[in-house]
Amino acid sequence: MEALFRHCFASVWNRQQQLCVSPPPPTDDMTMLCPVTPLKYTRYVQTLVRAFKQTSRQRCAQSEEFIRRFISDNTEIVGERTLTPEIKLRLFTPNCTFWRERPEFWPFDDPYWAIYWPGGQALSRYLLNNPGVCGGKTVLDLGSGCGASAIAAKLCGAAHVVANDIDPVAAVATHMNCELNDLEPPVCLINNVIGLKPEAFDLILLGDMFYDEALATSLHSWLDRCIEVHGTKVLIGDPGRAQFEEHGIRQLLRQLAQFELPESVREENYGLTCSGVWSYRPELCN
Ligand SMILES: C[S@@+](CC[C@H](N)C(=O)[O-])C[C@H]1O[C@@H](n2cnc3c(N)ncnc32)[C@H](O)[C@@H]1O
Repeated sequence: MEALFRHCFASVWNRQQQLCVSPPPPTDDMTMLCPVTPLKYTRYVQTLVRAFKQTSRQRCAQSEEFIRRFISDNTEIVGERTLTPEIKLRLFTPNCTFWRERPEFWPFDDPYWAIYWPGGQALSRYLLNNPGVCGGKTVLDLGSGCGASAIAAKLCGAAHVVANDIDPVAAVATHMNCELNDLEPPVCLINNVIGLKPEAFDLILLGDMFYDEALATSLHSWLDRCIEVHGTKVLIGDPGRAQFEEHGIRQLLRQLAQFELPESVREENYGLTCSGVWSYRPELCN
């Protein structure tokens, strides 16, 4: 997961790291003026950053209010530039401070919830184009991130929507994004449900969840149990990542739709041009 995130934002963050993290090269003048060696200086900065992150994490655990304020201060409301302009989302954009800031100062885990991933965009577009898929259904958006696919399901009249993401900050972002769209938030679960006894959902949504082989493999066998026990339908959105295309699961999918990505999404995702939606083992589902 970290690899995917770093890949997407590597150019911005690496450039900033080169600019900011390295201490200034020692010169004779400096050594005289400043008795702190570059190594000590680096350690000092690292200790400060660790302390800052620890304090922030403790504060976060205590205060949803702090997370809300942080999200609203460090994201921008985006609509038009995605495949689903009818859904407004708070996202990380080049206008946000942390686009340029050193990642060490980010007080949470990597903000996957601050990006609307191409797989999730295609999946949400597909739902909005085909409201009957969710209408009246119980829906689980697994790896919900910013909550866009859960929001699309709600807009299509799903009877009950659960957004599940192991990052607790994603749950707060999902609540805030629902408020932006004048919707009641879905139930947000933050435990890892993959591998647990399957709940009775009519539909499971997986937007851009095939970026890691181990995750893909554990999802694969768990989805089989969901289908076996409850006949749950599974929809997957993916922009054709290698981990998806090369995984065994790929043979069990039927493609339902393909969307061209908007220009700004292409730019943020290094050359991805399209994103598709697949149904998993459609012959076995209700
Ligand atoms: C690439 S993002 C996709 C987010 C969203 N579906 C979208 O398309 O915009 C993957 C998300 O899955 C979440 N995630 C990773 N492993 C998970 C797990 N075992 N259970 C639930 N969520 C998980 C991450 O925290 C992250 O928000």
